[in-house]
Amino acid sequence: MHLSGPLSGKWTATSLGLLSILSTVISPAAAVKEHDFKKCNQSGFCSRNRAYADHALAASSWTSPYTILPESGAFKDGQYQATILKTINDNGDTVRLPLTISFLESGTARVTVDEEKRQKGEIKLRHNSKARKERYNEAEQWVVVGGLELDKKAKVDSKDKTQFTVKYGPTSNFEAVVKFSPFSIDFRRDGASQIKFNDQGLLNVEHWRAKVEKAPEPEPEKKEGDEENKEGEQKDEEKKEEPQGPDESTFWEETFGGNTDSKPRGPESVGLDISFVGFEHVYGIPSHASSLSLKQTRGGEGNYEEPYRLYNADVFEYILDSPMTLYGSIPFLQAHRKGSSVGVFWLNAAETWVDVTKAKDSKNPLALGIGAKTSTHTHWMSESGLLDVFVFLGPTPKDLTTKYAELTGTTAMPQEFAIGYHQCRWNYVSDDDVKDVDRKMDKFKMPYDVIWLDIEYTDDKKYFTWDAHTFKDPIGMGEQLASHGRQLVTIIDPHIKNVENYPVVAELKSKDLAVKNKEGNIFEGWCWPGSSHWIDAFNPKAREWWATLFKYTAFKGTMENTWTWNDMNEPSVFNGPEVTMPKDNLHDGNWEHRDVHNLNGMTFHNATFHALKSRKPGELRRPFVLTRAFFAGSQRVGAMWTGDNTAEWGHLQASIPMLLSQGISGFPFSGADVGGFFGNPDKDLLTRWYQAGIFYPFLRAHAHIDARRREPYLMGEPYNTIIAGALRLRYSLLPSWYTAFHQAHVDGTPIIKPMFYTHPSEEGGLAIDDQLFVGNTGLLAKPITEQGKESADIWIPDNEVYYDYFTYNTVPTSKGKTVTVDAPLHKIPLLMRGGHIFARRDRPRRSSTLMKWDDYTLVVTVGRDGKHAEGDLYVDDGDSYDFEKGQYINRKFVFDGSAKSIVSTDLEGRDTKSIKEGDWLKKMKGVSVDKIIVVGAPSGLFAGKKEVKVESEGKTWTAFVEYNAPEGGRAAFAVIRNVAAPVGADWKIDLS
Ligand code: NOJ
Repeated sequence: MHLSGPLSGKWTATSLGLLSILSTVISPAAAVKEHDFKKCNQSGFCSRNRAYADHALAASSWTSPYTILPESGAFKDGQYQATILKTINDNGDTVRLPLTISFLESGTARVTVDEEKRQKGEIKLRHNSKARKERYNEAEQWVVVGGLELDKKAKVDSKDKTQFTVKYGPTSNFEAVVKFSPFSIDFRRDGASQIKFNDQGLLNVEHWRAKVEKAPEPEPEKKEGDEENKEGEQKDEEKKEEPQGPDESTFWEETFGGNTDSKPRGPESVGLDISFVGFEHVYGIPSHASSLSLKQTRGGEGNYEEPYRLYNADVFEYILDSPMTLYGSIPFLQAHRKGSSVGVFWLNAAETWVDVTKAKDSKNPLALGIGAKTSTHTHWMSESGLLDVFVFLGPTPKDLTTKYAELTGTTAMPQEFAIGYHQCRWNYVSDDDVKDVDRKMDKFKMPYDVIWLDIEYTDDKKYFTWDAHTFKDPIGMGEQLASHGRQLVTIIDPHIKNVENYPVVAELKSKDLAVKNKEGNIFEGWCWPGSSHWIDAFNPKAREWWATLFKYTAFKGTMENTWTWNDMNEPSVFNGPEVTMPKDNLHDGNWEHRDVHNLNGMTFHNATFHALKSRKPGELRRPFVLTRAFFAGSQRVGAMWTGDNTAEWGHLQASIPMLLSQGISGFPFSGADVGGFFGNPDKDLLTRWYQAGIFYPFLRAHAHIDARRREPYLMGEPYNTIIAGALRLRYSLLPSWYTAFHQAHVDGTPIIKPMFYTHPSEEGGLAIDDQLFVGNTGLLAKPITEQGKESADIWIPDNEVYYDYFTYNTVPTSKGKTVTVDAPLHKIPLLMRGGHIFARRDRPRRSSTLMKWDDYTLVVTVGRDGKHAEGDLYVDDGDSYDFEKGQYINRKFVFDGSAKSIVSTDLEGRDTKSIKEGDWLKKMKGVSVDKIIVVGAPSGLFAGKKEVKVESEGKTWTAFVEYNAPEGGRAAFAVIRNVAAPVGADWKIDLS
């Protein structure tokens, strides 16, 4: 069926490249065609920068040709501005590069290097191109939303002829030591070096130059030994011209896979080495199907040969354990060791590669003579744009995520339904099919919130239309879903079918809102609909127009419970270079696609987010939009998923580090296709995938059009029951997930957390990326991701007590040990760390919406000291923006064994009585904490007790206690019933 779709219409066998790409998409067995994507040596600027590095690192006397002109420099109000001179030849000719070092109030420093505009006419672009003749400087406008206030207290502390030192940061314990010649910066905290720029001398700003047309020289005959002699003769000259003797063959034109990039501005890359002094582990720069702690990339055993690449691309069924690029990019890297976390954010939206190497450094001052420490060196290379880097000096992982969030924003507060379970496949084939799945999920008692429609719901891949034969009554379908609180997501991609009688494309053209080709004409390429044009969401007018298309009155068949999926927004162009747009395409303002490629997906996602906000006058609800392509900042407008994975155990395994990486990189609302997109998971794999998937912040099952139907109720027993159990576990914990989302919204804290984040001092956990903590709950999950495995080895990060979630057994542990827990197919390895309180809603329901007014259960896991546990719960209406006006509940719960009480207070210390209650808050007065389970209940407080007193708002009543003494390995536990304490009010349970 799918063949009749994409291959119909203008799809002819002449587009052979396209057909071969399609065969990859269609064939579940096919792996990504690695050769469709560049290796570093096939990318002109990457190979030039790597060659530059090779040369610089090999030469004992290498001197970086970048020097600050000291007399050009001035420090004022927390900012240093100067000119860097780059010496470009032996005549001493230089290029002037404006340098700005900004010290921000948050303690973050920012280093920006631009290129001075040249005399009029000096730089001529080739082909009379319309491309903008400036280094791209608008990434900040898209990405940065705050945190740029200058730190007026930052001061030049010392200065001589060679360097100066600025003291900055909240307690002035940060320093930047800026050397003039060659230019370098050493960022220190408490006197110790943490991050160094250009310490290895790899700074490389390929300045704009005029193209010199050379007559082709005849190839000289080569004789043995010539190479070395020639090299010897030319060495000096080359060094003068361009220190590393760059390969000029790709300066002005570059061809890959039959596509030629016209490169009108010539070479213009920026490269820089950033060293992390004394750090063995670096993390981040998603998305890659790789380990959380990044590997080395310059070869050697167990290392990659290629740099990590960031160039948003449609890579289909991607390969595992690879630095190859995927669908989205966040150029934020963190380094961590015991006692210190630091990071950099490389704000550049062009194609970027990052080499990572580690070296023992015996001279490292941090070693204090105790032996060599390892340092990590990174080498960043971007094809164009500014050199613009933010430096974070920590010292904790949380400091990094908070400061990064200050700059790029936090996760939007989601629709509450969006953290429930999403049922998707390519495709539910008709409205009847959707309604049938909806009924069957109920029949098999599997909760879910959202069902999804992939591209086949449209009339011939024309977005904003319905296939009238298969989706005869979309509103009827939507209403059935709405009747039990469920939602529908329809896919809307950025490619607009180029066909007659389609008003959307007609308007796109007549209003001139599409991406242009290098000649400035509308760009035409191929995607699902065949010949297509692409909306240019960089253009504000295009975004305004886009919003009109989503109005309920325009996109007929949609209603209040319809939401959106943005796919293919890297953008995917089937017949384009590396399955994307030509780099010489033009966007709003005549910026080349080259400059903005990695931002492209975010601009489209953003346009849809805002469009959903204006579907109906007076309706202001939180949009839900899933995106495949993303960049730093995308977290502000929705969720992402990791694209086209495969129904294999390895892909299940890879999903955990990938999502942990998303979390620490500021975009935690993330998931992977449960079940694997390509292929057919066997029942064990699918079951284990659900058990893992319930720990993804975004939980969606999805399957390729060729994959067999695999709605979870089709698995038969015992699988149905096991999967239903896993989904119910997710649903019961939704209050805690929502609380974790709120924390992410407030300050960028990851929703699921790796060990290094929660236990930064435990060196044994720094490379662990197959287990996770959920929010602040103390829930420690280790999903089973190996075939046939029936036990899990969980690394224990501290000396707290850990209880099995299901049995309350105390796990025999101590810090740094690995404990093995049983995990037959029906069992999810899940521990509860002592010392926490988390909230659940235990009544099974069909959807999260139907749980809205249910009472809460609190689980108290008493800490090893037997005295203490605490936790929090955030609740709002899960839909509107009223929470911004104080319409929310934010509780702090404390169990205090010494004071013999469990107490609930407002987490922020607000006087909740003074808040003017809207409808939702009023209704929440009828919602209580009704049950409290105390795991590890001290016998002194609970043994023999039948009832306890509850006190709230001047009233007192009795709740009932059932105490269970320890038995076998099981900890003592108490259940307090009929607590009936209003969830939004202060209350106290007296345990004395
Ligand atoms: C590619 C997406 O990654 C996949 O999830 C989707 O099903 C297909 N496009 C069809 O829309």
